[in-house]
Amino acid sequence: MAKIVSSWNDFDPLKRVIVGRADNSVIPPEEPATSEKVPIDSEMRGMWGLRPLETVEKANAQLDNLAKILEDRGVIVDRPTPLQWNQAIGTPDFRNDSMMTCMPPRDILLTIGNEIISAANSFRCRYFEYLAYWPLMNEYFEEDPEFLWTQAPRPRLTDKSYKHNYYDEKISLEERLERTANKDFVTTEIEPMWDAADVMRVGKDLFIQHGLTTNRKAMEWFKRYYPDLRVHAVNFPGDPYPIHIDATFVPLRPGLIINNPHRRLPEEQRKIFEANDWQIVDAAQPAHETPPPLCYSSVWLSMNCLVLDHKTVIVEASETNQLEQMDKLGMNVIPVPFRDAYPFGGGLHCSTADVYREGTCEDYFP
Ligand code: ARG
Repeated sequence: MAKIVSSWNDFDPLKRVIVGRADNSVIPPEEPATSEKVPIDSEMRGMWGLRPLETVEKANAQLDNLAKILEDRGVIVDRPTPLQWNQAIGTPDFRNDSMMTCMPPRDILLTIGNEIISAANSFRCRYFEYLAYWPLMNEYFEEDPEFLWTQAPRPRLTDKSYKHNYYDEKISLEERLERTANKDFVTTEIEPMWDAADVMRVGKDLFIQHGLTTNRKAMEWFKRYYPDLRVHAVNFPGDPYPIHIDATFVPLRPGLIINNPHRRLPEEQRKIFEANDWQIVDAAQPAHETPPPLCYSSVWLSMNCLVLDHKTVIVEASETNQLEQMDKLGMNVIPVPFRDAYPFGGGLHCSTADVYREGTCEDYFP
């Protein structure tokens, strides 16, 4: 019996990780609160069905390559078992015509110490995505006597979980930004809902983005579930689609965070970092003007890097500005091509989930 699961942050030396798979991925049908999350000008509005096989194969090639690069550096890489995602699903509370994919794992699995929690995601099409990780969870459970295999309270996702008529095709970008600033999001407070990728782990502190995929009640749930950790709600007023923190606010090592310059952390919330001598640096401009085709995310996946240790980081190979900035910040950079995987939900950090990093739960903000 060995220790398999332990991770307290996103920067200590990475030893074991899950890398997603794109097989059978679906562009999900519209459901309450999805059109609010798809950018207004996206070519994907109203589109749904299996993603073109050619794009799946290209994404898988880049995911496999990432896995190989990690393995060559001595990191153990685990892979999920994709389901046939284009099946209709139902619970006593809702029906949906399809699921989505097992990309990216970061949205579903949250590792805190020796525990991996499957999130309380707010998308109906992602309700059963955790099943792709079931074989791995079971393996960790059998082999690691301390592993805590946990499921967050499952949200019911009835129509009451979403505001209706929140969204109107004509809503302007300014109006969207105003709503973000006012913390007026499409999800309601009827039950805790959260995506794992909204949680930034920094040892004893969890910084959780309040946005379209995570609500206030989730913060309250975290506070009660982890009484020994400190939970901070953060929000980024410059983001018209605040979904997942990892293309917005990304720690590189103790004391250093890069922040999306269009989505700056408000002054009030910067205090805890400044008081503890953490530096918050504007991330470099993305090298691309647009995301690749059939991609929900923004060009800021440029900053969605995977930190291997305090001095080493994997950055997408075509993101020349970001590569250069990492170098200037004193990091050794490993460029890895990954843009073909972006349409499947995210960049290098999104597409992975921590299993084991060295180090313990440190108090960086005493
Ligand atoms: N909301 C981010 C953006 O478009 C994308 C975040 C993707 N992260 C993730 N874990 N899926 O800039």
